[in-house]
Amino acid sequence: MPYAATDYGKLIGMEGFSEALLKNHFTLYQGYVANTNKVLDILGGMLAEGRTATPEYAELKRRFGWEWNGMRLHELYFGNLGGKGALEPGSRLEKALAAQFGGVEKWEADFKAVGSLRGIGWTVLYQDREGGRLFNQWINEHDAGHPAGANPVLVLDVFEHAFMVDYGLKRADYIAAFMKNIDYKAAEARLA
Ligand SMILES: [Fe+2]
Repeated sequence: MPYAATDYGKLIGMEGFSEALLKNHFTLYQGYVANTNKVLDILGGMLAEGRTATPEYAELKRRFGWEWNGMRLHELYFGNLGGKGALEPGSRLEKALAAQFGGVEKWEADFKAVGSLRGIGWTVLYQDREGGRLFNQWINEHDAGHPAGANPVLVLDVFEHAFMVDYGLKRADYIAAFMKNIDYKAAEARLA
């Protein structure tokens, strides 16, 4: 079964995100879904034809992680937007962040600091499935830096396409707008 793109049109109208920016972003996301399916198809064909010991197979295999993560990270990102940005005091996620970081403000400061790293990629609040530790991780491009076996809880896109249309180089203003629109219930549902 090929992957199908999810419709995130309900996010249009979100404060701090223009319709033009969101529509461009949805189109980019749909491209990752299409390419994930395409790469899967081609790799499947190469396997069936016994063409795996080829440079084409090797390069496409490497490419797959980039396309697939580009697809899935966008789903996690759009999926944790559209809320009011209010982390409910006493909720499971609030308690876990406070316990891990010594206060939700400290977690938020670190999350924003990771989101401000120079370069293009993602900032992901991860939970280690073994032991439950929470940490903010920088992901280069789409595929470099994911901690094996950890669960993505909250995902922030910091590729330039995610903000430049609305914010130019002011990434901090975009991150502030992102924080105001987090759907913390969606994020909390990803906790183990
Ligand atoms: Fe993106």
